[in-house]
Amino acid sequence: MSIGIIGAGAIGSAIARALSARGIAASIANSRGPGSLATLAAELPGITAASVEEAARADMVFLAVPWSKIPAAVRGLGPWEGRIVVDTNNPIEAPDFRAVDLGGRASSDVVAGLVPGARVVKAFNHLKAALLTGDPQAEGGRRVLFVSGSDAAARAEVAKLIERLGFFPLDLGGTEAGRLHQFPGGPLPVLNLVKFD
Ligand SMILES: NC(=O)c1ccc[n+]([C@@H]2O[C@H](COP(=O)([O-])OP(=O)(O)OC[C@H]3O[C@@H](n4cnc5c(N)ncnc54)[C@H](OP(=O)(O)O)[C@@H]3O)[C@@H](O)[C@H]2O)c1
Repeated sequence: MSIGIIGAGAIGSAIARALSARGIAASIANSRGPGSLATLAAELPGITAASVEEAARADMVFLAVPWSKIPAAVRGLGPWEGRIVVDTNNPIEAPDFRAVDLGGRASSDVVAGLVPGARVVKAFNHLKAALLTGDPQAEGGRRVLFVSGSDAAARAEVAKLIERLGFFPLDLGGTEAGRLHQFPGGPLPVLNLVKFD
């Protein structure tokens, strides 16, 4: 399964580092083009600097851009034809960190509306970037990453990748479960959980 990452800031580059450290290849893109990612790609074996269009063609596409930039980042990238989009995003943004009013919708529903035809899985959104690049083994167990989304097979694919990265995937279920690990608002993002095997 090919992997693309749209967004190469704190979260996008942390995911690239975690993948590279486990020998998993991926392409990564930002708003400024592949040339601006040459240094990052040279540092990370298996990670290739790409255009947004190239990264979006992967079987599994991580979306990791500030909330207000998501519509522009995904515009024109379809048809998604069942490819998995991993929604790592939170509807809150620097500099004021005020929660975006979603009119009661789950944030992943809003993202899904922007990538019609994609199988959206919400994951990798609740831990700080540094914890994604750090050792997933913690306190004698594995750090937990939550997974939710309407497509069970897509959730399973993302969970499998989370396992390969050394974390423990906690599948919360369908899209509505996304509210549990939505930040801000959900009760789970404030928790840095460890699963003891
Ligand atoms: N930071 C965290 O610890 C953390 C934790 C959990 C979840 N999140 C969520 O992850 C998402 C990304 O946050 P971040 O902290 O990684 O943001 P960030 O450090 O500001 O990086 C944002 C990235 O998005 C790219 N981007 C912006 N507009 C784009 C466009 N139109 N097309 C392609 N790429 C575009 C930027 O490209 P350029 O570099 O070219 O500008 C940059 O690489 C947010 O939704 C945030 O809520 C963040």
